[in-house]
Amino acid sequence: MDAFRDRIAVITGAASGIGRAMAGAFARRGARLVLADINEESLAQAEKELAASGATVLPVHCDVTRRESVVALADRACDHYGRVHVVCNNAGVAVLGTLADATPADWEATMAINFWGVAYGVDAFLPRLIAQGEGGHIVNTASMAGLVGMEGFGIYCASKFAVVGLTESLHRECRPHDIGVSVLCPMIVATNIAENTRRVLGRSPLGPTVAAAPAPTAADGAGRPRGGVVTADEVGERVVVGIDRRDLYIFTHPEQRDILRRRASRQDAMFEDDSWSI
Ligand SMILES: NC(=O)c1ccc[n+]([C@@H]2O[C@H](COP(=O)([O-])OP(=O)(O)OC[C@H]3O[C@@H](n4cnc5c(N)ncnc54)[C@H](O)[C@@H]3O)[C@@H](O)[C@H]2O)c1
Repeated sequence: MDAFRDRIAVITGAASGIGRAMAGAFARRGARLVLADINEESLAQAEKELAASGATVLPVHCDVTRRESVVALADRACDHYGRVHVVCNNAGVAVLGTLADATPADWEATMAINFWGVAYGVDAFLPRLIAQGEGGHIVNTASMAGLVGMEGFGIYCASKFAVVGLTESLHRECRPHDIGVSVLCPMIVATNIAENTRRVLGRSPLGPTVAAAPAPTAADGAGRPRGGVVTADEVGERVVVGIDRRDLYIFTHPEQRDILRRRASRQDAMFEDDSWSI
C-alpha cells in the first residue's frame, strides 16, 4: 500500500520549519493532514497555505508537553478522519549552553518538549496504529545531536539521545505490526528554531557561553556542529523517501557519514589490545 495516498498524517510542530515542510511533502504525495502546534498564529498560516495548494488539512492546537493535550490530538484526528497512519513526533526546541551554565529550568523545559513530547506521541498513537491493523509509520525527530555529543549542546543532546534510543527500540517492537519507524537526525537546517524556542520558553534559548561565541561554521573544530545548511523542504523530501524505504535512520547531510564513522572508530579502538587490558 502507498505510504501516503489517502493516508492520514499527523505532525507535531507542524506550523514551522521541518514539520511544516514534512506536511507539504506528504500532501504532495496525496496524504491528508493533521497539523499540530502550540503556536496558533503560525498554525493558521500553515493551514491557509497548505489548503490553498489543495491539501486537506485539520489544524489542532496542541502542547506536546501535556499528555492530555497529545491524547486529545489523537482523539481529534481519529474522530475527524476515522484513522491515522503516519505520525511525526517532531515538535522541539533548542536550548544551548555549556552544562556548567545549565539551570534545572533549562533541563526541564528541554526534556518536557523534546523527550516527553515524543514519548506522549508514542503513548497516544501507537496503540491506535496497532489496533487499526493497517500498518503505518512513526517518525520521531531527533538530531545529529542525538548520535554524537557536542560542546554547548549537552541538554539538547541528552534529549535527542533519548529519542534515538526509544526509536531504535520502537523500530524493533513495531516490526510484527507492519508499522515502520524512523528517527530523523538532521544536522543544521534553516528554520526559525531559535526564535520559536525564545517564544515558547519566554526567554533566550542561548546560555551565556553560546550567546558569546561566534556562530558555528564549517571550519569549526571537533565537537561543535559543522557542515552545510540545508532547507527544511529538502528535509521534508528526505523524510518521504525514508518512509517509502522504511529506513530506521533518516539523515540530511552527506558529511554525517564521516562524523558517525569517527565515533564508531573511537569506540572500536577501545577493543584494541592495549586499551582492553585491565
Ligand atoms: N533546525 C535544525 O537545524 C534542526 C536540526 C536537528 C534537529 N532539529 C529538530 O527538528 C524539529 C523541528 O525543528 P525546526 O528546526 O523545524 O524548528 P521550528 O521552530 O521551525 O519548528 C518547531 C515547531 O515546534 C513548535 N513547538 C514548540 N514547542 C511546542 C510544544 N510544546 N507543543 C507543540 N508544538 C511546539 C513550535 O511552535 C514550532 O512551530 C525539532 O525537534 C528540532 O530539535 C532541528
